[in-house]
Amino acid sequence: MAAADVRTSGLCPRSCRHLLLVLVMLCRLPAGRGSGEQLCDWCPAELRNSSEVVKMCQASHQVLRGRCCLSREEDKDIIVGLDLWNCSLGPLDSELQNASAALTIDISGNPQLDLSITAFQGFTNLQYIALPSSPSCPGGNAYWESVQNETNRLVCQNQRSSCNSTGQMVFLCPENALCAPDGPGLFKCPCDENYHGYKCLREGTFPMIMFFGILGAVTFACSLLFWCSQRRKVKNS
Ligand SMILES: *[C@@H]1O[C@H](CO)[C@@H](O)[C@H](O)[C@H]1NC(C)=O
Ligand SMILES: *[C@@H]1O[C@H](CO)[C@@H](O)[C@H](O)[C@H]1NC(C)=O
Ligand SMILES: *[C@@H]1O[C@H](CO)[C@@H](O)[C@H](O)[C@H]1NC(C)=O
Repeated sequence: MAAADVRTSGLCPRSCRHLLLVLVMLCRLPAGRGSGEQLCDWCPAELRNSSEVVKMCQASHQVLRGRCCLSREEDKDIIVGLDLWNCSLGPLDSELQNASAALTIDISGNPQLDLSITAFQGFTNLQYIALPSSPSCPGGNAYWESVQNETNRLVCQNQRSSCNSTGQMVFLCPENALCAPDGPGLFKCPCDENYHGYKCLREGTFPMIMFFGILGAVTFACSLLFWCSQRRKVKNS
């Protein structure tokens, strides 16, 4: 940072210093106690008392807010329960990712709901989900211990690991990699310690800090130069 500061201050002094100040302020903003909160305010009607999310939230002494049950962590709220019953949902994939730590989700009562097969990627904690009528649970019924087909909704409970000894997934990971659950019916293959790269074939740890450090510095310097040159053009014309 300091090096970039010195070098660019000669290029366009005042405006760059202002930009740097703004960037520094942005970096210092506390990491989102707001992330994903629009999901909690998705529809105005209140949560039903009979909701599984309300039950779960009260039993675990967490905080109810809008349509969410939140777990208060040090610097942010994590969505552990989400009830979007009767919210006229359509496509939901990207917003749903904000609830990937959830244990309980109810998105039933939304006949137009449109989810892709990877909508629940990363939902490893999910133990209860109620969906509008659908042919099967996320990832397939085999990945749930209990599947109840009710009128207009499907309830799936107790997610099974996709990386158990009888499941097929274990054998799809390359050598030197583990199989790790990544949501219902989904898995990933993180490399064993001391291996990295394509198919985990490279030995030795990946120099993560150095790589991202250099990448970050280069990106920062380039954007600064670009921004400054644009300003000069505007000023000169
Ligand atoms: C739901 O619970 C709240 C608070 O416990 C209560 O005030 C309200 O009357 C209940 N609503 C229904 C429909 O039972
Ligand atoms: C579902 O939502 C619609 C629109 O917000 C509302 O008119 C309707 O009363 C709701 N249904 C129930 C059973 O609460
Ligand atoms: C392992 O996963 C398969 C589904 O792939 C399931 O049928 C089986 O019951 C699971 N076994 C255990 C011990 O969880």
